[in-house]
Amino acid sequence: MTQSNSPVDLGVESVNELARNFWYSAILRAGIKLDVFSLLENDSLTSQDVAVRISASPRYTQAFLDSCAVLELLEKKADKYNNSSMSSKFLVKGKAAYVGDHALHHTNTWDSWGHLDEVIKEGKTRLPYETGFVDANTYWTDYMIGQHNRATSGQAHYLVESLDLANKRKLIDLGGGAASYSIALCAANPQLKAVVVDQKEPLVVAKPLVEEAKLQDQISLVEGSFFGDQVGSGYDVCLISGVVLIKPEEDCKKLFKLAFEILEPGGLVVIQDYMHIEDDPARKRLDTLEDLYVLVVFDPGAGDREGAEVASWLEEAGFQSTKSIQLPTQLGLVTAEKPPAG
Ligand SMILES: C[S@@+](CC[C@H](N)C(=O)[O-])C[C@H]1O[C@@H](n2cnc3c(N)ncnc32)[C@H](O)[C@@H]1O
Repeated sequence: MTQSNSPVDLGVESVNELARNFWYSAILRAGIKLDVFSLLENDSLTSQDVAVRISASPRYTQAFLDSCAVLELLEKKADKYNNSSMSSKFLVKGKAAYVGDHALHHTNTWDSWGHLDEVIKEGKTRLPYETGFVDANTYWTDYMIGQHNRATSGQAHYLVESLDLANKRKLIDLGGGAASYSIALCAANPQLKAVVVDQKEPLVVAKPLVEEAKLQDQISLVEGSFFGDQVGSGYDVCLISGVVLIKPEEDCKKLFKLAFEILEPGGLVVIQDYMHIEDDPARKRLDTLEDLYVLVVFDPGAGDREGAEVASWLEEAGFQSTKSIQLPTQLGLVTAEKPPAG
């Protein structure tokens, strides 16, 4: 017979905490969907006030707001709630550092993760709209605006800072999504023109963002596969951002060969992605989880790559002078050059 431990082994709380962790994601997701963080940015409100404003059950709203306070998403003083500094900075729609759509994109994968045991056994990806947790339109919108949140909340700044494109004139952004990085690079380099190639759904999100940035003269959106005929040639920069992580190795290598072919001699290729570039325990932890995440919801051939491996694939495609750049964010850069003519 199994003996129960006595006194209680407090280490079990670590297991209980792991088991409950998804509650935290659910609370965050609900807060974003109910947009309580916009509501509580400038006003301190009671739970009854909030319940009226969001047309919700008073008792559930009180328990929900108290849970938000425990998770430091809100502050509670007497019986009134307002945003914590974290929510105020990152979860109020319209603010530069807003990442709510990115959090929705992550939590849209809920049902896929909920079947993780089956996913592991089958070795098959479950896309969020295949599980019925969200519809395809919601998936694409949250995914693309979420990627854009990441760019505008810091990643675009670091990319722009890391690249000297002063003498470049024509960039191709393969799998450019919401055009976030073409927008940032064209805004910082007025002589630069960019062609963003992606599928229909991302470009629907990209179009108004390019217009909002008033960059229609510099950025063209081209719909189709990056392995299709419409990619053109004669580029002097090729950006591949967020693609290497979610594609099988053979597709990445094919894409690098394509980049080599469509670049002019001396052209620059820039890979921006989750990549393990330097040893850092905090990054290693997230890279490890990210490796599982992309298998669950993107592609059975996807994977969080080693920066050195990406550099070797670029060299295999003919590039030289590879450089790996660790950024303060989770995404790193690997750059390389097509050899000059002659
Ligand atoms: C993670 S997103 C990255 C978007 C953007 N480059 C960024 O960094 O924010 C990957 C993008 O690759 C695009 N993509 C995947 N396969 C593609 C293909 N065969 N042709 C064109 N785009 C593709 C997806 O539609 C998606 O927009």
